[in-house]
Parts: sequence; C-alpha cells; structure tokens
Amino acid sequence: PFGINFHMFQPGAEQIVEAVISKNIKAVSYSRSPTADFISKFKKNGVICIPTVGALKHALKAVDLGADALVIQGSEGGGHTGSTPTTLLLSSVLQQVEVPVIAAGGFRDGAGLAAALAWGAAGIAMGTRFMMTQESPVPQVTKDAYLSANIEEIKITKKFDGLPHRLIFNKYIQKIDRSNPLSLLLISLSSAWRYKQLTESSFKDLLKAFFAMLRGDDLTISQSIMSANSPAIIQKAMVEGFPNEGAMPSGQV
Ligand SMILES: Cc1cc2nc3c(=O)[nH]c(=O)nc-3n(C[C@H](O)[C@H](O)[C@H](O)COP(=O)(O)O)c2cc1C
Repeated sequence: PFGINFHMFQPGAEQIVEAVISKNIKAVSYSRSPTADFISKFKKNGVICIPTVGALKHALKAVDLGADALVIQGSEGGGHTGSTPTTLLLSSVLQQVEVPVIAAGGFRDGAGLAAALAWGAAGIAMGTRFMMTQESPVPQVTKDAYLSANIEEIKITKKFDGLPHRLIFNKYIQKIDRSNPLSLLLISLSSAWRYKQLTESSFKDLLKAFFAMLRGDDLTISQSIMSANSPAIIQKAMVEGFPNEGAMPSGQV
C-alpha cells in the first residue's frame, strides 16, 4: 500500500507507526487528536501526513503539528463527523491555511468535484460512494440497505459510540438512540468484549486505549466505554452482512 489510515488511540497504534516507517509507506491519514511525537516521527522519515479534520480549530492545530495536506470533512460526511456543513468548513479552512485542502462530506459525482475545485479545494475525498462500488467487498445485502435509505434517514447520533457519528438510522440504531445510559453501558461492555476477540487485544491493550482516549481525546468516561461499540457493531453490517443488526456509517450522498 502507499497509504495507511488509522487512529491514534486504537490498540497497537505504536506498532502501526513503526510499520509505516519500516515498510516505507508514503502517506498516512489519521484523525482524533494525534500526538506530536507520532507526527514528528513520520515527518523525520518523509511520510506525508494527511489528517482528516471536522472543525476549523482542528485544521489549524493539525497544520501546526505539521500536516502536509488536510482532508476537511463537513457534517454531511459519513462516520465520525463534525457539525459544520462541508461548504462552510471548506471556505473557512481555505482562508486560514496554506497547505492543500481536500474536501469531503456529501460528494457523490463530478458536479460536486467541479464545485469543490471552484471553491479552491485541491480535490475531493469520497467515502460512501466508493464503499458502494462493485470493487468494494461490502456484502451486497448491506449495499442494498444503503441504496434503499432516504437521505432523511441518514442522521447523526452521539449515542452509538460517544462521538457524533453519521449513519443510517436502521431499527438497531433507532433503538440505541432511544436507549437510557444503563442499557447503553451494557451494550458497550458487550461490544468491548467482541472488539477484544476481533482484534485479539489483551485486557491491558483495551485499558491502555481506554485511558489514552480519556486523556488525549477529551472524551468522558462514558464516551470512552461507548467507543467500543463502533468496530464491533459496524463489522456486523459491513463485513458479516447483517445490515439490520449492525451499524452503517453513511454520508448524505
Ligand atoms: C462506512 C464508512 C467507514 C469509514 N471509516 C473510516 C475510517 O476507518 N477512518 C477514517 O478516517 N474515515 C472513515 N470514514 C470517513 C471517510 O474516510 C470519509 O471522510 C467520509 O466518508 C466522507 O464523506 P462521504 O461519506 O459523504 O463521502 C468512513 C466512512 C464510511 C461511510
């Protein structure tokens, strides 16, 4: 691969950083409050750093830390997302940074690309659209569920993994969105257990990730516990092919 996407608080992040350098990977994409020492390690080894940010203040911080280019993801974008619409975030970031800015969030065709270029972006990044391609390994039954979702059903909730997450409000997510804190805690603990099995992480790894998120990501204890929901429940829809029992992150495209 020429590029790797990861996030700084996942178990094994340090090994990923080492692997990027030892395998001569050319570029990295990351989000979530990266630490300065990871980034300086990349920079010293000539790895191009392209973080994704969802807010102007995060864009400015990322450039200060040494980003070579930025992906700005507006609130229309799929997965973890901010609250500023793509066009507003794009124009405000372009006014304040010198590095190339790639626009993301809600793009689905050439017209969107042309509009972003006219705005001053260096290009666009698309997530949901590429996930729907024939080449994408996502099970067809899950792609069909994406195709049948209306744009109004693609909403943001913080109850899924503690951070604003845009996804299809299927029955499962509707239930989570209505859940009280105690049921959310039980769901999260069972997800943490599944995540441990999926990633073959030890309890020590999980606790390390938990405390790193708590410290470095400005998350509350409940947000850090809930973050375990994301990988395990997304996998249910996106890999195992059960769209009604899992989570389907999606942009408004
Ligand atoms: C199913 C799905 C999974 C995603 N997973 C990640 C991820 O693991 N890391 C990441 O940085 N961004 C992730 N994203 C965000 C995309 O990289 C991209 O910024 C976003 O999809 C752009 O918005 P769009 O979906 O409207 O095109 C994901 C998006 C989707 C839809």
